Amino acid sequence: MHIPNLDKAKIRSKQEVLTKTYENIKESNLEKIGLNKKYYIKTYGCQMNEHDSENIKAILEEMSFSEVDNMEMADLIILNTCAIRENAHNKVFGMLGRIKHLKEEKPNILVAFCGCMAQEEDVVNELMQKYKWVDMIFGTHNLHEIPIILSHALKSNKQEVEVYSIEGDIVENIPAKRDSKYKAWVNIMYGCDKFCTYCIVPYTRGKQRSRKKEYIIDEVKTLKKQGYLEVTLLGQNVNAYGKDLDTDYKMENLLEDVAKTGIERIRFVTSHPWDFTDNMIDTIKKYPNIMPYIHLPLQSGSNRILKLMGRRYTKESYLNLYNKLRKALPYSSITTDIIVGFPGETDDDFKETLDVVNKCKFDSAFTFIFSPRKGTPASKMVDNISLDEKNKRLQTLNKLVNKYAKERNDVYLNKTVPVLIEGYSDKDKSKLMGYTDTMKLVNVSGDSKYIGSIVSVLITDVKTWSMDGVIK
Ligand code: 5AD
Ligand code: SF4
Repeated sequence: MHIPNLDKAKIRSKQEVLTKTYENIKESNLEKIGLNKKYYIKTYGCQMNEHDSENIKAILEEMSFSEVDNMEMADLIILNTCAIRENAHNKVFGMLGRIKHLKEEKPNILVAFCGCMAQEEDVVNELMQKYKWVDMIFGTHNLHEIPIILSHALKSNKQEVEVYSIEGDIVENIPAKRDSKYKAWVNIMYGCDKFCTYCIVPYTRGKQRSRKKEYIIDEVKTLKKQGYLEVTLLGQNVNAYGKDLDTDYKMENLLEDVAKTGIERIRFVTSHPWDFTDNMIDTIKKYPNIMPYIHLPLQSGSNRILKLMGRRYTKESYLNLYNKLRKALPYSSITTDIIVGFPGETDDDFKETLDVVNKCKFDSAFTFIFSPRKGTPASKMVDNISLDEKNKRLQTLNKLVNKYAKERNDVYLNKTVPVLIEGYSDKDKSKLMGYTDTMKLVNVSGDSKYIGSIVSVLITDVKTWSMDGVIK
């Protein structure tokens, strides 16, 4: 049994990161343990978690489990959880309530709890005390150990807890059962060393570990051969790629090499303004297969709050970078993340955030109310703003964000843009859907033979969150 420990999770030593390969460490005698058994997985949170779930699915299928999309039919239920804000946490505990009833009816089903919440000391303590019926708990560092954890859980009646609060290594070649046939997530780094004061990620995901470029390029080349049209390079802070490696090879070099593979579309998330270099901008500009879409979290427009957040840039330097990007990439979209109600945020601080939004006119923004995460410095800061006030600020901000999102979309009306058609629209099955190079969602009228290709679409209507168009 290994139980998480937040103090240990904070440690950043000079210890070397080891790159292991899945084929060398996996248990090879467990291929049949899932025979005739079905699994259901529910994923919360970010793209990193989505991709982890793709790995988990492939590992389970190597053990002969098959996937079902109805929890009631499953022999194994997995919750891949997110710890970023309290509401994500609450959703997961709500789901546990539902699963408990199911487990009472069918005591033989196995329940697994993994992901970022499994890295939290308090959560695991609660699961160990009040949710003893959860069969297995494992963390973000040991997905590759699922087969062995599962085989123990199948044999014993006690809760298996295997969570490591370590800086972390890298395991290459973990298989993935990808959700899309056209778009793929490609991790380029794990963890984060920025320790923004509000953020739990550096504790749940370990230290920054960049994958070696050879593995990344090989993965992209293989995906291209398999017919994938788009890759999204993933990391908590992708611009810092390579800073932890003993080479001069940085994000701009990686972007260039990935572009040279010739894969049709390359995206990358998430960028931290601190590490965004001029060379990176030049590379994005130079290669048409690097998409003109940048997610550049602002968090706050107030220098005082940015400092308290530990963000390492100012309102002015953010605006400078933003303007540089817009100038270099006139046809592009830039989106952001903003937190309101950080401890001690005054009306004037909030006005500074609105000022940046007014200046940048973002294509869109994810906006959040500050949520204290246990163990982070911000959770100990005095927070004297009422929830009512925070809600008001969020509403004011959202109104402004939406206004500019619509304005940015208006420019697309009657223009023809490239769209990767992914499938049928969720809302209207008679329509197709896909994203532009600039990451705008388009509902498209056209023949289903275009699913899986990049086509020219004439935009016929624009809304705040999506557009309509026809294939030309
Ligand atoms: N409270 C509210 N929002 C948060 N984020 C990260 N941590 C918190 C928190 N404690 C937001 C940031 C980040 C996005 C992924 O989630 O805006 O960019
Ligand atoms: Fe969290 Fe900051 Fe790291 Fe992003 S850069 S994951 S906000 S600590």
